[in-house]
Amino acid sequence: MTIPTIDADRLWATHMDMARIGATADGGSNRQALSAEDAEARALLRDWCAPLDLRFEQDAIGNMFLRREGTDQTTGAVAFGSHLDTVPTGGRFDGVFGVLAALEVMRVLHAAGHRTRAPLELVNWTNEEGSRFRPAMMGSRVHAGNMTLEAALAIADDQGVTVSDSLRSSGQAGPLTPSPRGWTCWLEAHIEQGPVLEAEAADIGIVTGTMHARYLQLTIAGEPSHVGPTTMDRRRDSLAAAAEIILEVERIGRAAEPLGRASATWIDNAPNARGAVSAITRLHCDVRHELAESAVALEVELRTAMAAISARRRVAIDTDPYATFGPVAFDARLGTLLRDTAAARQLVTRDIIAAAGHDSVLIAPLCPSAMLFVPSRDGITHNPREYTIPEHLAHGAQVLLDAVLDLAR
Ligand code: GLV
Ligand code: MN
Ligand code: MN
Repeated sequence: MTIPTIDADRLWATHMDMARIGATADGGSNRQALSAEDAEARALLRDWCAPLDLRFEQDAIGNMFLRREGTDQTTGAVAFGSHLDTVPTGGRFDGVFGVLAALEVMRVLHAAGHRTRAPLELVNWTNEEGSRFRPAMMGSRVHAGNMTLEAALAIADDQGVTVSDSLRSSGQAGPLTPSPRGWTCWLEAHIEQGPVLEAEAADIGIVTGTMHARYLQLTIAGEPSHVGPTTMDRRRDSLAAAAEIILEVERIGRAAEPLGRASATWIDNAPNARGAVSAITRLHCDVRHELAESAVALEVELRTAMAAISARRRVAIDTDPYATFGPVAFDARLGTLLRDTAAARQLVTRDIIAAAGHDSVLIAPLCPSAMLFVPSRDGITHNPREYTIPEHLAHGAQVLLDAVLDLAR
C-alpha cells in the first residue's frame, strides 16, 4: 500500500469553513458549549462525516463518536479527537484542530479504501472549555466517571440555564449512557497555545504530561450600605475584598513561574449598584503547577492570604474547590511512537508539558493516551488572533494519521 498523505489544502479549508460558525467581528470564534453555534458546528461535522461510512453514536452528555469499523471485530478502537466548543473570545484552532485533523484522517482512509485492523473512533467531547458551564472537560469527565452524569446535568450557566436544558434544546442529548468504550488507546492533536515550539523552531510537540490545576469558586460576603454616609471604617465591602484577593492571586502566580500559574478570571458582583457598597462578590480562580504538591501549596498560600483579608475586612469568604485536573504523565510508549513517527517525516520534535487542561487528562486513566502539539503563532490563544500556519496543521495531522495507522495495523 502507498503511504496515505493528508490533504493540507482540504484541512485548511475545513478549518476556515468551521470558523464561519460563531465567527466574531474580530476574526475569532464564539461557540460556547451547547449553544446554537456549538450545535451548528456539530451538525456540520456530521455532514462532513456522512459520506465516510462512519457510524454515529452520542451519549447523554452530548459526546459524539464517529466509528469506522476495522477488519478485526474483537479488538478495541483506536480513538482520537478533541472539542469544537470555544471560550467567548476563542480562536479558530483550539480544539477544532484535533477534531478536524481526525476528520482528515477519516477522509484520507476513506478515499484510499484503506481498512485498518482495529476500528477507529473520531470523538468530539462536550464542553471542554468550561467557560459557560463549570467545570472544564465536562464531557470527558462524565465519560471517565470523574463526575456523575446527574451532577453535570444539573450545572447551570450564569443565566440559570442547565446543562440538561441545553443538551435538549441543542438536540445533543444522545441515548448512550456515558462510559468508557474499551479503546485500545487515545490520541489528541492540539495547538500548543504557548510560545515554546515556535521559539525553538520545533514542528511537533510531544506532550509528556500536564500540570496539576485546582479550580476554586469564591463567595465573598460583606454588607450592603450607602456609599455616602457609611464611613470607610464601617464598611464590609465585598468588592474591595475581591480586588485584594485578585492581586494576591496574581502575586502568587508570578512567584510560581516558570512552573506554576495562578489566575482570577470571572467575577459576579451584587448589588452592583452605583450608590451601594458591594455585599456579595463571587470570584473564579485557579492555581496550577507542574508539580502536584506545589499546586496544593499555591492553594494553601491563597487560602492563608484570604483568611487575613477576611479578618481584616470583616467579610466572610466561602471557598468551593469544585474541580481539579492532572497531573498526568501520558503514555511513554505512545510518546515514543509520536516522536519516531514525526522524525520519519523529517519533522523536528520537542517534549513539552501542557499547561492547559485537555480531555486527554481524563482519558489517560482509561487507556494509553498521548497528545501532540503544533506551534501557535506568538503563543496566543483564547484570542481571535490565535493562529497556526497551514503547514504546521498539516504536519500535525500527518503525524496523527501515521500514528493511527501504526496503532490500528
Ligand atoms: C482549561 O482548559 C484549563 O486549562 O483550565
Ligand atoms: Mn482545547
Ligand atoms: Mn481552550
